[in-house]
Amino acid sequence: MTSKKTIRDVDVGGKRVLARVDFNVPLDINTGAISDDSRIRASLPTIEYLVEHKGKVILCSHLGRPEGKVVETLRVAPIAERLSQLIGLPVKIAEDCIGAEVEKMVKGLREGDILFLENLRFHPEEEANDPRFGHQLAGLADIYVNDAFGTAHRAHASTVGVASHLPAVSGFLMESELEAMNTLLNAPERPFACLIGGAKVSDKIGLLQNMLRKVDILLVGGGMAATFLRAQGYEVGLSSVEEDKLGLSKELLQEAEEQKAPLLLPIDVVVAEQIRDDAEVKTVPTTEVPQNVHIVDIGPQTIKLFSCELRKCCTIMWNGPMGVYEIPEFGEGTRSMARLLSSLAATTIVGGGSTAEIVGEMGLAHKMTHVSTGGGASLRLLEGVTLPGVEALLDKEQ
Ligand code: 3PG
Repeated sequence: MTSKKTIRDVDVGGKRVLARVDFNVPLDINTGAISDDSRIRASLPTIEYLVEHKGKVILCSHLGRPEGKVVETLRVAPIAERLSQLIGLPVKIAEDCIGAEVEKMVKGLREGDILFLENLRFHPEEEANDPRFGHQLAGLADIYVNDAFGTAHRAHASTVGVASHLPAVSGFLMESELEAMNTLLNAPERPFACLIGGAKVSDKIGLLQNMLRKVDILLVGGGMAATFLRAQGYEVGLSSVEEDKLGLSKELLQEAEEQKAPLLLPIDVVVAEQIRDDAEVKTVPTTEVPQNVHIVDIGPQTIKLFSCELRKCCTIMWNGPMGVYEIPEFGEGTRSMARLLSSLAATTIVGGGSTAEIVGEMGLAHKMTHVSTGGGASLRLLEGVTLPGVEALLDKEQ
């Protein structure tokens, strides 16, 4: 991965700086309140730097999926307010992200001021990467900064289009995310383990294929383990199996053998007749899963086995829960892995999305080496895909 220029490489003093952030934060379904502000906190160093170096800061982000229309519940005002509280500075809010009114507000900015543009996705042109829209956004600024790692896998106007019109550099969050992923992909301290979970093999095929060539050991839990277990000929009861991925799972198991990178599956599992919080649970060896149950978590012997293997490693990447962790009774495997990783001296990198949420909810994020703010983006990177939002930025040597 080529190194990209950062805000340290440009002079932002007195300049209008358009900073794309990913403040697509989760909102409480009932109250609309921000339920996790980690993404806002993660871009604070970039925004603070721009303010301290006297840039005229114009922030832009998407929020949710309004599909090109104005959706009142997806306005950015609450996010701008939270940012203002966190940074301790006023944050002006624009009613749109392009147009005469916004241009007027930008003209009125003084050095160190912060203006937050309205949700980019209220315009269909954003996701379509419409060249005119990208040009209009670029017209607001002298420099473009991309700190939105979580959206870097999307080739949109604010992540790609705009970068062709302005000097385009990365913010500190983007830089640290790329550094962490680069370590995993190119220079992991060995032994290197990947702990993979989540519901489906199909969501993580690229990740499994790419990482299998790089790791010393791959540990698989979560819903996807059922497909692997079935591929090995085990009974998995009512657990959902991706029949069309059985062949691929067999190939991956075989490839692991050839690469001499063991692919470990659960040796015991927690099962329940129904996926409900009042369901009765029991633990059974993987070889003895009854027909009338769902596998809902990894069992205690597997936790022991996985822990023992992970303790031997110097680099660990974790992506995906070990079971149906949303139901606390089915979450011990996932919580144990989070606790274990947080206690190790190894480099521990946690993929974004639900894995990052779990680690955050348990208050363990600060004990990991890096917790990614990007779910889809980190997955794509670990699959070995170049992210369009990163590609669009200036190379260090340019
Ligand atoms: C995310 O939350 O993964 C990013 O903000 C991207 O959002 P999207 O999947 O709606 O493009």
